[in-house]
Amino acid sequence: MKTRITELFQIKYPIIQGGMHYVGLAELASAVSNAGGLGIITALTQKTPEQLAKEIARCREMTDQPFGVNLTFLPTFSAPPYPEYIDAIKQGGVRIVETAGRNPEPYMGPLKDAGIKVFHKCTSIRHALKAQQIGCDAVTVDGFECGGHPGEDDIPNMILLPRAADELAIPTIASGGMANGRSLVAALALGSEGISMGTRFVATQEAPVHENVKRAIVNSTELDTRLIMRGLRNTERVLNNAGVERLLEIEREKGNNLRIEDIIDQVAGVYPKVMRDGLLDSGAWSCGMVAGLIHDVPSVKALIDDIIDEAKTLIGARLRSMLDATSVDKPNQSCVEDVLR
Ligand SMILES: Cc1cc2nc3c(=O)[nH]c(=O)nc-3n(C[C@H](O)[C@H](O)[C@H](O)COP(=O)(O)O)c2cc1C
Repeated sequence: MKTRITELFQIKYPIIQGGMHYVGLAELASAVSNAGGLGIITALTQKTPEQLAKEIARCREMTDQPFGVNLTFLPTFSAPPYPEYIDAIKQGGVRIVETAGRNPEPYMGPLKDAGIKVFHKCTSIRHALKAQQIGCDAVTVDGFECGGHPGEDDIPNMILLPRAADELAIPTIASGGMANGRSLVAALALGSEGISMGTRFVATQEAPVHENVKRAIVNSTELDTRLIMRGLRNTERVLNNAGVERLLEIEREKGNNLRIEDIIDQVAGVYPKVMRDGLLDSGAWSCGMVAGLIHDVPSVKALIDDIIDEAKTLIGARLRSMLDATSVDKPNQSCVEDVLR
């Protein structure tokens, strides 16, 4: 399959694994890259730039295919040492970076000078245009359905993806709600040139997370996610659980007076407890509505092969046959032509 995204990243299939805290480790990233997609290591899961360098080296031992690193720019008071993380990326020979969160402009110089391809994750057309303007090579467009931070505009992908494709000259990657061959074909039809998946890749054999997490996703439906931190304009879509119920209760009690300190127990330090130890109710962890489409825990290769096979069948058989069906109308068409003649 050839799109501007497969060309840009030199990958076989236009399928990307979005950065995921405590999930995007070398095991998953290498499995995705080995299966023909683009695996991504999540930088900030590594507590120091030195640890990121080691994780990159570990991934390189597991794959000879291209992989990338996600750099999430957080709204934190004490920013992580981003320049040092970027040095680790450069020295590790990584050629692709997915940026997310705040505007990556301050770091574009060092990244582009090193010949790194940068794609930024956006939830609005405004931010996507800005990403294009500051020199990003592509954008990931995260619709309202997505796991993690969908922004504050609540625009689903059915609208957001064609809007982005119309507005931007650089290629767009559809993210949020992507799970199978149908998603890929729909995304291509809506103007994107690839898909990026988060939640779907968590429920795979190679995802280095506790079995409880995978089972929770398989057992959930599209009704089981909740939006938290809306009042802080830092909205996050998470899987509902006892910790999230408590958080939502606090949000209701505090109303407009909500501060991050009020819910810190439900949002800070949760990921290792959930992903490593399987303590699902520890607090809020990202999950997309797409959980409703996830019913199994395949290997990454089986998942990607299935997506491609289903997409080919959809395009080559189902959609093709619908076009061919118009031949039934041909007699009418020739009548029209006769009239016109
Ligand atoms: C468990 C989990 C952790 C995530 N952590 C991050 C992160 O650290 N940085 C980031 O940019 N996106 C993060 N995301 C968002 C994903 O990269 C991706 O944009 C999103 O999951 C797409 O929606 P989907 O889950 O419907 O596929 C996370 C998503 C999940 C499910």
